[in-house]
Amino acid sequence: MHILVIGGAGYIGSHVVKELLQQGAKVTVYDDLSTGQQINLFPSAHFIKGSILDTDTLGHAMAQNVDAVIFLAGKKAVGESMQNPAKYATTNLTGAINVLNIMLEYGVNKIIFSSSASVYGSPEYLPIDEKHPVNPMSFYGFTKLETERLLKWYSDLKGIHFVALRYFNAVGYDANGDIKGLEKNPQNLLPIIMEVACGIRPLLTIFGHDYDTPDGTCIRDYIHVTDLATGHWKALEYLKNGGKSEIINLGTGKGISVMEMLQKTQELIGHKIKSVFDTRRAGDVAVVTASAQKAKELLNWQAQHSDIDSIIQTTWAVYKNSMKNV
Ligand code: UD1
Repeated sequence: MHILVIGGAGYIGSHVVKELLQQGAKVTVYDDLSTGQQINLFPSAHFIKGSILDTDTLGHAMAQNVDAVIFLAGKKAVGESMQNPAKYATTNLTGAINVLNIMLEYGVNKIIFSSSASVYGSPEYLPIDEKHPVNPMSFYGFTKLETERLLKWYSDLKGIHFVALRYFNAVGYDANGDIKGLEKNPQNLLPIIMEVACGIRPLLTIFGHDYDTPDGTCIRDYIHVTDLATGHWKALEYLKNGGKSEIINLGTGKGISVMEMLQKTQELIGHKIKSVFDTRRAGDVAVVTASAQKAKELLNWQAQHSDIDSIIQTTWAVYKNSMKNV
């Protein structure tokens, strides 16, 4: 199977590429290296540098007897999407339209799309299953939802088969240390904790400790990227075996609070990480957890690397190693 991984040099994409190569697939990575990194590329995967807005280069990539596309490229900073919706509309929506149109042009009819739990907005019940109403609270989440809708129309009208994977909170690194690229200016909790642990940032600001949770801090469903990567392979197999187009959550069903993540990191790395409490961050909700039942039933997928120790240890290993090069 020849898979075109669009956004394959990014944090999640590179883990997906590793899984595909391990499974024996032929892989072409397509990435503009705007947030993806050269260091994340595997020598055994063919690489084409290009943007999803550059239809000529994308067409050239799609023309090489591709069996399926994994589409991860896009902008993903929630805050920025609210300041600069035009950038998100162009990259995420125009980009998605380009990918789909070029798939049609070259007769490629299978796609796995990186969607996000942010399409749900504030939970009406927990755990969140795929039937939960969708009501994104950010422009970023809106672009993910609109792309899912585009996929549905292209599926109904043109026979594109898709699986949209709604990731919950992606964390962790490859346990063998094969992926070394650190996200620049990370916005998410665990990389920020790691940057404080490494002395790159002075302290962690904990956004709110008066939530209705056992320790007062927010609870999220953290899913290891290696588990996400396996989910992509299983989704490809599902489509290859004739599965119909679906939207599927990838999460663990379990929640970890901000405080638990901080304390466990301190315990595992053996030193204190400076933190302060601040007020709640706009748009945050107390608890988000996923129902992963559909992934289990349709894809025979289940998280296997997402326990708190593995999440923290694999991430710390990469951060600690990167400090040697500073
Ligand atoms: C974020 C995105 C969401 C996306 C998800 C996975 C927002 C509002 N949402 O979710 O759309 O699907 O990532 O990529 O950005 N926290 C702190 N201090 C910090 C950073 C975070 O206390 O410096 C807390 C947050 O308040 C939250 C938890 O840690 O309770 C997780 O935050 P974050 O990693 O940003 O993820 P989400 O907001 O859950």
